[in-house]
Amino acid sequence: MKSLIQQLVETPGPSGFEYEIRDVIREGIGADADDVRVDALGNLIARKGEKTEQGLRVMVSAHIDEIGLMATHIDDNGFIRFTNIGGINPLTCYGGRVRFMDGTRGVIGMDGLERGKMPKLSDLFIDVGATSKAGCPVKVGDVCGFERPFIDLGKRMVAKSMDDRISAAIAIEVLKQLKSTPHEVHFVFSTQEEVGIRGATTAAFGVDPDVGFAIDVTRTGDTPRPGTKMAVALGDGPAIKVRDSSFIADPRLVDWMVKAAKEANIPYQLEVLEAGGTDGRAIQMTRAGVPAGCVSIACRYIHSPSEMVDTDDVENAVKLLVKLLGEPILLG
Ligand code: CO
Ligand code: ZN
Repeated sequence: MKSLIQQLVETPGPSGFEYEIRDVIREGIGADADDVRVDALGNLIARKGEKTEQGLRVMVSAHIDEIGLMATHIDDNGFIRFTNIGGINPLTCYGGRVRFMDGTRGVIGMDGLERGKMPKLSDLFIDVGATSKAGCPVKVGDVCGFERPFIDLGKRMVAKSMDDRISAAIAIEVLKQLKSTPHEVHFVFSTQEEVGIRGATTAAFGVDPDVGFAIDVTRTGDTPRPGTKMAVALGDGPAIKVRDSSFIADPRLVDWMVKAAKEANIPYQLEVLEAGGTDGRAIQMTRAGVPAGCVSIACRYIHSPSEMVDTDDVENAVKLLVKLLGEPILLG
């Protein structure tokens, strides 16, 4: 699974520009789905299983876009100013490397660095090594993602877009391992989550599920002096979301997921995320409303170029989802 994860996290795909990463997902799924389609917003939707009497139509959503930057202005010396695609913290930018969709690479510099101030996005620029505006290969509107290699630390893994490619890897693995299910499962590899859960919104309307789950990363409270107390830690198991700032998970699903984890002896933790949203909101709010939940992967340094997850959490999330999707869903 690690080689798939590496390939997924090293492929660029800022929100709205998911065509390369979508091809990698499609290749990863291979012949294991019953049907694969791409909708108008670029969501890749892979169906597995037929709905039986005890079955439901289930949407499982993992977003494949990532945060990035978009060029807004190029000056006479070829320096590029940019705006954010999704939640970019300027602190994590200086000295970072970026890759534009056409392969152009650059580094991020900063005005007024000598004053030692906290950077604003407008203080930052991209230097692609051009010496003039005319010689700059980047034009206004071009997008780039951060460039940082995957590193395998053994129990822990680090990469730029664990949010949310780790969940895409999990979804692909679940799709492959799911041998029998009473459900018609639609695995949605959604676009534009980082700019407002846009892909999952149209995908949920199109799939019209009876029930749905997001898979996404969540914050942790396990670093030396976390700013906010949070009872989620790397290695404590997949996190069953109770709520985040975008939706409150259906309590019946939360109970059912907890029961399943206990039954199968899969470690789990409960998640309350005070700032952050997921595709679960789009599923819950679609049409006349749909019961929705979320399996989260604890992740340190979210939205930095070095996001860290735990290998056991990833494996246990796969186990939990295979179990959940393999049996009737009780909303009792
Ligand atoms: Co994110
Ligand atoms: Zn995410």
